Amino acid sequence: MKYVAEPFKIKMVEPVRITTPEYRREAIAKANFNGFSLSSDDVYIDLQTDSGTGAMSDAQWAGMLRGDEAYSGGRSYFKLLETAKELFGYEYIQPVHQGRAAEKVLLPILIKPGQYVISNTLFDTTRGHVTIAGGRAVDLASPIAKSTTEYADFKGDLDVDALGSFLSEHEASEVAAIVMTVTNNSVGGQPVSIANLREVYRIASDAGIPVVIDAARFAENAFFVKQREKEFAASSIREIILAMFECGDAFTMSAKKDGIVNMGGLVGVRSNQELVEKIGMNVIPNEGYLSYGGLAGRDLEALAIGLTESIEEDYLRYRIGQSEYLAARLDEFGVPHQRPVGGHGVYVDAGALLPHIPWNQYPGHALAIELYLEAGVRSCDIGSLLMDRNPETGEQQRAANEFTRLAIPRRVYTQAHLDVVAEALGAIKQRASEVPGYEILWETKVMRHFTAKLRPVAK
Ligand code: F0G
Repeated sequence: MKYVAEPFKIKMVEPVRITTPEYRREAIAKANFNGFSLSSDDVYIDLQTDSGTGAMSDAQWAGMLRGDEAYSGGRSYFKLLETAKELFGYEYIQPVHQGRAAEKVLLPILIKPGQYVISNTLFDTTRGHVTIAGGRAVDLASPIAKSTTEYADFKGDLDVDALGSFLSEHEASEVAAIVMTVTNNSVGGQPVSIANLREVYRIASDAGIPVVIDAARFAENAFFVKQREKEFAASSIREIILAMFECGDAFTMSAKKDGIVNMGGLVGVRSNQELVEKIGMNVIPNEGYLSYGGLAGRDLEALAIGLTESIEEDYLRYRIGQSEYLAARLDEFGVPHQRPVGGHGVYVDAGALLPHIPWNQYPGHALAIELYLEAGVRSCDIGSLLMDRNPETGEQQRAANEFTRLAIPRRVYTQAHLDVVAEALGAIKQRASEVPGYEILWETKVMRHFTAKLRPVAK
């Protein structure tokens, strides 16, 4: 597997600290064995998330200086509207401060208490906002997504048969919305095909159910469609994005991913004026006036530029190439992972790598901590630690897969950094049976993984 060379050169650098294993052992113990509690100064390579961690371009930084900070009707706002309307083909675009703010202003309008929200898999914050609005989340991921070893082009798809069964057992009026997450983060950054988006949109429209696209990684999804869906092999990324968004009535977007900004989000509505007015009423008291939505004018300017940079094909080839390269290096060491590799990183199958650790001692977390100890690399659990306890029974809930996510920030790390990560995991595989499981000493009721205090389980 050849590394796809960067379509940019480096103009500014940010030093990172290389620490010793002894130093890291102390640092992680002080952080109660939770990567979120580490100081980032103690991290060498940070693969905790691809969200808000990308490097902006010289054009974006120049745009920051040109940002118009007017309270209302700023130039940068209009520039963002023009860019986003053309890109997504929607009439209404509303900036907000990040993805969950978009969810907060849109979802309560759509959901009546007790209604279902169906998805190819909701991201945690989206699930949180569904629950807060009184909705009931139903994930209908494609069944093949659970198997990390079987190949499928579009593991992010929604299971249309399951959707059909669900709708035959429930009235359409019981379903508030269908949310299509592109790419599907929770199952490994897996893409959703346009065929699937079209089919879901057809079924939803027939039943009068609105479709919301959770579009955080829209550009990466479009690149996978071009590579894997025959109908679109000769289409431009722009054409594919328009085809994707035709299969939705509204979208929420965390712009911290494919928008390549450190903070920002969007809500889009195709054409429903009543919905637009209601969104406006939620934005003003929560996010600020419509023309800035919780962001500075310079943020709007940088986002307008980031959106166009993220759809350049040379960039996307390099971007997806990084995940593919890291996965290929892991294959050399026999480290199992979700395949095909996702768009924003590699999801290591920690359950398979550390079979001696039971699910309720969090193999995904155990591997993340071990990777930090081995090489100062921060990653995170996407497994049973991430699942909160059942709110009614207090019982631990088991995730379908115990993943350690190696999320790759955009335009930040080099081939050599990825080699360090792969080689560290290769070394851990050699002594896998010595890696301990973890137990929780203290946790919160909701989103416990962020602040939980843990310790290794004594053998
Ligand atoms: N939707 C998806 C698919 C996401 O991956 C995220 C964030 C959000 C919504 C919420 O956006 O953070 O801007 O409020 N995902 C990050 C991650 C945090 O690490 O995967 P936000």
